[in-house]
Parts: sequence; structure tokens; C-alpha cells
Amino acid sequence: MFAILFFLHMVGLGMGMAANLASPILSANMTSIEEGGRIKIVRTFSIMGAIGLALLLISGMTMIALTGPGLITAGGLWFKIKILLVGLMIVLLGISQMNLAKARKTNDLVHLAKNKLIGKLSLATLLLIILMASFAYH
Ligand code: HEM
Repeated sequence: MFAILFFLHMVGLGMGMAANLASPILSANMTSIEEGGRIKIVRTFSIMGAIGLALLLISGMTMIALTGPGLITAGGLWFKIKILLVGLMIVLLGISQMNLAKARKTNDLVHLAKNKLIGKLSLATLLLIILMASFAYH
């Protein structure tokens, strides 16, 4: 059971990384696509990132629930920092989803542009979380 949860954790991680990397690359290269189309593409990656994060949260919490607090203790300070960063990640995703929703409602790319910095912060946060997760158990 733990192995399946860990597998789902890694699938979530893959989806999160893919969404975080693909979105800015695509945004920079889709100048020839009309506004509605661009918003749709960004939204698809945003949904993928949100599903990835949901998988990470559900599988992570279930792994802890299955094994008890031993894993948290074993992960030490690194694990605690990781969880704080996961909190930050949730906030960043929330802000980017709000901007995306505004962009869809108004069909205005100005709101999407606000997500450029948020996207960079999300990628940096995700990389830091992976670093903390690696330090926690190795
Ligand atoms: C953005 C969110 C997250 C990312 C990117 C992430 C990333 C990772 C990575 C890369 C590993 C593999 C580390 C290793 O075993 O070498 C891992 C393992 C783990 N994570 Fe997460 N994680 C996230 C959220 C969470 C949450 C919210 C929890 C629990 C509350 C959690 C609990 C765990 C546990 C229990 C392991 C397995 C430790 C083991 O190997 O036994 N993770 N995570």
C-alpha cells in the first residue's frame, strides 16, 4: 500500500513539474495564438498542476496516516520546512487560479501576465520542496 501511495506521490510530482515548466515556455511562444486560445492552453496546464498538487497532498498525508508520526520525526527539520513550503505552494496556486479565472471572465491577457512572477515563484518553491524532501530522507 505504501509503495502505491509513494508511486502516486511521484506521479503528482511529475505532473506538477511538467505544468510548472511547460506553462512559461508555452506562454512565451504562443504570441500568434488569439487571446481565448492562449487562456485555454494555460488553463489546461493549470488544471494539470492542480491535480498534481492534489495527488501530492492526498498521497503524502495518507503515507503519514498509515505509518504514524515516525516518518515526520525521521524527516526532521527538513520535513517541517518542506511542509511549510507546501503551504506556500498552495497559496501561490490559489493566486494564479484567481488571476486565470479573471482572465477567462474578461478574456483579457493582462490578468495572465500577473502570473509570470507567480509561475517563477511556484517553480522555485517546487524545486525547494524536492530538495527538502531529498534532505529529509537521505
Ligand atoms: C508540492 C508538494 C510535495 C512535493 C513536491 C513532494 C515531494 C516529495 C519527494 C520528491 C519525495 C521523495 C523523497 C525521498 O523519499 O527521497 C517525497 C516523499 C514523501 N513525502 Fe512528499 N512532497 C509533497 C507534499 C507532501 C505532503 C503534503 C506530505 C505529507 C503531509 C508529504 C509526505 C511525504 C512522505 C511521507 C514521503 C515518503 C518518505 C519515504 O520515502 O518514506 N509530501 N515527497
